[in-house]
Amino acid sequence: MNAPTSHQDAQQATDTGEALNSEQATSVAMQDTLLTPRFYTTDFEEMDRLDVTSVREDWDKLIAQMESDPNKNHFRKNEDWDKVDWDGMEPALRKEFIDFLISSCTAEFSGCVLYKEMKRRGTNPDVVQLFHLMARDEARHAGFINDALREAGIAVNLGFLTNKKKYTYFRPKFIYYATYLSEKIGYSRYITIFRHLEKNPEYRFHPIFKWFEEWCNDEFGHGEAFALLMRSDPKLTRGHNVLWIKFFLTAVYSTMYVRDHQRPLFHKALGVDPDWYGQTVFEKTSEITKQVFPITLDIDHPRWMKGLRGLQRASIKVAGGKKRGGISGTTQRLGGMAQAAFYFVSIYTIPSKKHEVPASSLLQPAY
Ligand SMILES: [Fe+2]
Ligand SMILES: [Fe+2]
Repeated sequence: MNAPTSHQDAQQATDTGEALNSEQATSVAMQDTLLTPRFYTTDFEEMDRLDVTSVREDWDKLIAQMESDPNKNHFRKNEDWDKVDWDGMEPALRKEFIDFLISSCTAEFSGCVLYKEMKRRGTNPDVVQLFHLMARDEARHAGFINDALREAGIAVNLGFLTNKKKYTYFRPKFIYYATYLSEKIGYSRYITIFRHLEKNPEYRFHPIFKWFEEWCNDEFGHGEAFALLMRSDPKLTRGHNVLWIKFFLTAVYSTMYVRDHQRPLFHKALGVDPDWYGQTVFEKTSEITKQVFPITLDIDHPRWMKGLRGLQRASIKVAGGKKRGGISGTTQRLGGMAQAAFYFVSIYTIPSKKHEVPASSLLQPAY
């Protein structure tokens, strides 16, 4: 296995719109910044002590559904997989789309690595079974995206990532908040694109979008599992933990907004306005998260959009400073970081909306 080229090479290639090779793609996937998908590790022993007795009925229903494996044969190319004209694709769009695929593949694989590790270390039969089923799905998702990338002559080296990418430690409760949200927002993202392209098929510039409906049902189910895990221990969603929930909601939503705005051509090709897309995804995610979180963010507050736009400008400043280097680059980068902190605080401090959490959390994908 060859080590990938340095991050700088990969960054350079993506900056100039040059086609990436697999080594560079793997380097892009290796990057750890605030905005790129990370790999996580946690206190697996503490997670193994989870007790789902209080949500047993819902738990058994969900596990039975996952075990029935409705998407067993879904992640295969069939006659619906139209030929993709990678060479005919406008280079700047191709660059953004490949960046989207690499980032999605890394995010899917990040779930796979975490879930597999939990399954490997666990002794609690409920925990082992759930994480086995979720790792199965995420491996399919990551593999399917990698198949799509391979047609463009690129593959993310997943084995290399497993061994060499940095792992960020999160204590179990932060894993629940972050992973629950990433599963539910993943569902909302996939289904919003799918429904939009169902109505406007002329924008479907790649066949992978046809696979999104069944795909997002997997993510929905994973989110259900984390909702039940959190409900099995009510203090996770009470008291000072509500502030943590608000923090994760704010961080996940704003990261998505900034990242999506880094791909204007990709969204244009899909016929999607990234502001509309962001708000639609946040609305759906907020509606779903009422199943377990006692608060949602007020995304209609005047400070919300203003703050997101400020964060986006700050991220451009930080990236520009990094690229520039030297003292002036560092000054620019630090200025950008201070701006980002200011806008983050300004949206974090918007009063949240409070909700009664329903007696049972189990939901079906409804969008
Ligand atoms: Fe997934
Ligand atoms: Fe998932």
